[in-house]
Amino acid sequence: MHHFKMKNGTLFAEDVNVKELARQYGTPLYVYSTATLTRHFQAFDSAFNAVEHLTCYSVKANSNLAVLRLLAGLGAGMDIVSGGELYRALLAGVPAERIVYSGVGKKPAEIAQALSAGILMFNVESVQELVRINEVAQQLGKTARVSFRINPDVDPKTHPYISTGMKKNKFGLSIDSALDAYAMARDLPGIDPVGMDCHIGSQLTTIEPFLEALDKLLAFYEKLKAMNLNIRYLDLGGGLGIPYDEEEPPHPKEFGAALTKAIDGLPLKIVLEPGRVIVGNAGILVTEVLYTKQTATKTFVIVDAAMNDLIRPSLYGSFHRIEEVTPQGRAALDVDVVGPICESGDFLAKDRQLPEVRQGELLAVYSAGAYGFTMSSNYNTRTRAAEILVDGDKAIVARRRETYESLVANEI
Ligand code: LLP
Repeated sequence: MHHFKMKNGTLFAEDVNVKELARQYGTPLYVYSTATLTRHFQAFDSAFNAVEHLTCYSVKANSNLAVLRLLAGLGAGMDIVSGGELYRALLAGVPAERIVYSGVGKKPAEIAQALSAGILMFNVESVQELVRINEVAQQLGKTARVSFRINPDVDPKTHPYISTGMKKNKFGLSIDSALDAYAMARDLPGIDPVGMDCHIGSQLTTIEPFLEALDKLLAFYEKLKAMNLNIRYLDLGGGLGIPYDEEEPPHPKEFGAALTKAIDGLPLKIVLEPGRVIVGNAGILVTEVLYTKQTATKTFVIVDAAMNDLIRPSLYGSFHRIEEVTPQGRAALDVDVVGPICESGDFLAKDRQLPEVRQGELLAVYSAGAYGFTMSSNYNTRTRAAEILVDGDKAIVARRRETYESLVANEI
């Protein structure tokens, strides 16, 4: 469910005319919907109401401060993976005690930054990292709350680049090695082992891999209890998929019901790290048709958004629905929608049936709210897009379009 709808033959984001936004702010343009963000967060969070829980939105999916501030206001905690994301989360008003910090390569300065802020816990991914967190904590006279990220060796059946919980992945500790790590953590003066964590992948469209991982974690929990460890948190990560095309991922309600059933009655606070399911379908990328071009074998629609704006099609072969902002009712053609970048891998859609479109018309690329702007770059010295947050009939510029001056500002 989202709030991008046709009204009188033109696309609206809530009550704001998308064509007007494009005219006012230019293209390419990211547009996010407050009502959709709110609805998605509440649907997800309330799905876990049967158990004590904390929903830590995964900042990497969309880290715009306006989005973070909105979610923080709804009671969200945050899942971060860098000092930069910590900085953003705090700036957006997220209480530090609602922040969890994952990632395989935390630097000492980032660890110190998180300890000084007083985050809820580190999701630790190696023994060397544990040792380092202990050292930094002792230097600062603090105790670091930690969970170990367990790699349960479960196949999430998603794109290989975004599978994270299999033996061959760089993430977490195997169940076999985690027991020793907990024993070590228990004896380190700067460490308080408080939880268990796992995140098996992203864009999962079935519940089974989550349940399989959870089963393994719960069996492991029994072993930890036998070691007299006082484990209070169980972080199940993120990963719930969204419909981009024909996928039918479980509704958050169904997802929540299945997981809470498995953990009901345990003295554990559940932490969740959803990203895509909150923001993915709450954002579109608006782009203008620059040229159309017919070659011997193809019809190309050349638009002003490129792989630097939305890299998912180029990087993962991902499908994003593309539609006209103001449908003209022309017959469909088989086209490639491509950007201005000098690479053949620069496309938003390949071999796509799209009504014939003409120069100057606008297209909306759907499901662009997650891993869209956050993965954008300045490749080809392109300024990154502006981001707009709509709320009812109001639109604010959540991020100004970059300028040529801002692009070279750090170069000496
Ligand atoms: N927690 C951890 C530790 C993660 O690594 C991730 C995502 C999440 C939570 C949030 O996962 P989500 O609920 O969004 O699936 N760039 C890729 C996705 C990469 C996901 C990385 N980790 C894409 O565009 O599909």
